[in-house]
Amino acid sequence: MKTIVVYKSKSGFSKKYASWIANELSADLFEHSNITIKELESYDTIIYGGGLYASGINGVKLITKNLHRLEDKRIVVFASGASPPRKDDLEKVENNNFTKEQQKKIHFFYLRGGFDYNKLTPIDKLLMKLLKWRLKTKATLTPDEKGMLALYNIPTDFTKRKNIEEIILLVNS
Ligand SMILES: Cc1cc2nc3c(=O)[nH]c(=O)nc-3n(C[C@H](O)[C@H](O)[C@H](O)COP(=O)(O)O)c2cc1C
Repeated sequence: MKTIVVYKSKSGFSKKYASWIANELSADLFEHSNITIKELESYDTIIYGGGLYASGINGVKLITKNLHRLEDKRIVVFASGASPPRKDDLEKVENNNFTKEQQKKIHFFYLRGGFDYNKLTPIDKLLMKLLKWRLKTKATLTPDEKGMLALYNIPTDFTKRKNIEEIILLVNS
């Protein structure tokens, strides 16, 4: 069984998970821009991982737009965000990124990443500054919003190797 892990990662969190998964499964590992759909077609299991940006999984269209070409494959997608895993939020992420039909085919996982302001692109820095200003004008903040503000100052890494266990079990089953 040939397995490939593909990732798109802005600040390295999804890349770290992708490397751990590829290592555990002795799978090939590729960055999103270095692989074509034609090459993906030669694998039995395709694992795709990307950072979560405003509930969108970075680069996941490589999979969703080409799903008709990957019908006989096992497809796993993981998203890596800064937020803690909450059932409601994850359902929204799933519905935001996949149609109901696609959800039947794609095994979706959330692997908590982290946040490193210094590694963001200028555009993402600007977006985060706007969010910070908006939060600062609010009279009361939710615990999540307070947590979000705290992340701006200290790079935070929530990744844990054990988070990949469910994916490894699924692929090996
Ligand atoms: C503009 C922007 C939007 C973000 N939106 C979300 C989000 O909707 N949910 C979340 O959990 N994290 C969000 N994050 C945090 C990233 O998902 C988190 O840092 C992730 O681990 C990055 O993964 P990567 O380094 O592999 O790209 C956002 C970060 C930025 C800069």
